[in-house]
Amino acid sequence: GPTMLFGLLFLVFYEVYRFLLHGNRFPPGPRPWPLLGNIPQLLMKPAQTFAEIATYGEIASLYLGRKPSIVLNTLQVSKMALVENGAVFSGRPSLPVLDWIINGRGIVMSNGDSWRQQRKFASLTLKAFGLGKKSLEERVTEEAYYLIDELEKEGENPFDPQHMIQNAVSNIICSVVFGGRYDYEDKRFHNLLDIINENIFLTGSALGQIFNLFPFIKHFPGPHQRIQQNASELTGFISEEAREHRKTLDKDNLRDFIDAYLVQMEKQESIPNSTFFEENMVFSVADLFLAGTDTTSTTIRWGLIYMMEHPHIQEQCHKEIEYVLGFDRIPSMDDRAALPYVYATVHEVQRVGNIVPLGLIHSTTQATQLKGYYLHKGTNVLVNLTAILKDKDHWKYPDTFNPANFLDEKGQFCKNESFLAFSLGPRVCLGEQLARMELFVVFTALLQRLHFSWPPNTAPHDTEGVFGLTRSPKPFKMLCRRRGAKH
Ligand code: HEM
Repeated sequence: GPTMLFGLLFLVFYEVYRFLLHGNRFPPGPRPWPLLGNIPQLLMKPAQTFAEIATYGEIASLYLGRKPSIVLNTLQVSKMALVENGAVFSGRPSLPVLDWIINGRGIVMSNGDSWRQQRKFASLTLKAFGLGKKSLEERVTEEAYYLIDELEKEGENPFDPQHMIQNAVSNIICSVVFGGRYDYEDKRFHNLLDIINENIFLTGSALGQIFNLFPFIKHFPGPHQRIQQNASELTGFISEEAREHRKTLDKDNLRDFIDAYLVQMEKQESIPNSTFFEENMVFSVADLFLAGTDTTSTTIRWGLIYMMEHPHIQEQCHKEIEYVLGFDRIPSMDDRAALPYVYATVHEVQRVGNIVPLGLIHSTTQATQLKGYYLHKGTNVLVNLTAILKDKDHWKYPDTFNPANFLDEKGQFCKNESFLAFSLGPRVCLGEQLARMELFVVFTALLQRLHFSWPPNTAPHDTEGVFGLTRSPKPFKMLCRRRGAKH
């Protein structure tokens, strides 16, 4: 009928338009659907689509809606773009669903001077409040022991550890930004974590993609309004914290990130167009909180799964920790050298866990070229962290969980340049140092005190996971039992 004819004509026009736009000078990639691009494939069979993209050579293309993105599939080409030409490749695109709630504020999705200033300030302030210092490490170990107590309470009954782990991890970032932790029973804080989870899920889901294609739906009621409500609830929580901080602020004795930001705002009061204002504070805090919580807690959950899947690796970790620390000595970053097997295992958890499969989306800040391809200003750029973390040319055991990927023949830890879990270049994860400390200290403390196993008759775990903004494990239940003497 006429609809069919119209559809066909549309397809032809669309293909011609695509060709005229890029000629044959745009890299190859999976065939896009009209209008929707590769979004249906990405939503319906994400793992296969990621694997397929990697087969198109070092640079591939992917259509998020009508807009093409280039995908960097190797370490070499990623370095060429994001490091050697870092200024040009370090923009962020405008994504309607995120613009709707973030509007260019904060760190993760901001651009230009605002991004540079907010990022630099956050980086320096994280350092000032203990990164690389003993005090923050002690806070991390303290939190690890709260978590161990909570896990142990569940004892020998199968339970899902997700909430406890998330609460523990977000408490660490809370200590830095708000100056305190929240009790695991705190209802208001639980509610906040639920809201965050829901928004991470919704913005990454089909609903978020529909919004990106048809942003005018923001003017109409519907399930997408939930995203805005959740965001307001989170920013409301932060604003309230800031109000409390203002009342008790002592400039000679700054307690946390919010205090430091309030002082910075005052310092810059007379500077026209200063990027240090209330809303940027709220969104910077939200960014640290969001980027720091889901990533780290998801990694720890994958870690527990890999330990249960590979009991002999768990046992090897137990043995090394028992030999070096015993059951009571509190682990610290200084113990990394003496615990090479555990340190390698933590890296392997991140490599195989691969929780940000295509990194965070970048955008070119001006027209440029890469390996002979001409790229317009505002071309989307994705770094295929999955392909790089599993590149057969760079890993001894690319497709299996094996800490030997990070060990030399003598059993000593060895770095691997392709370990890009935190991405690279000027947009590299701002929390890398904090995340590495959390992962090593918490993982070591957990394995020092506890033994993890699947409940009897558990079906084999689905290691493909659930794809949202991060790749997380399907909900699971586990058993844990105490090792060594009661602490
Ligand atoms: C960005 C990974 C933990 C704060 C990123 C990016 C990745 C990443 C892949 C994107 C970089 C890019 O755009 O190329 C991880 C992983 C973590 C982790 C795997 C833990 C296992 C944290 C923590 C914090 C944090 C604990 C908080 C202190 C940020 C921020 C950005 C970012 C603020 C945005 C940087 C920017 O746009 O300039 N992270 N991250 N991350 N991460 Fe992390």
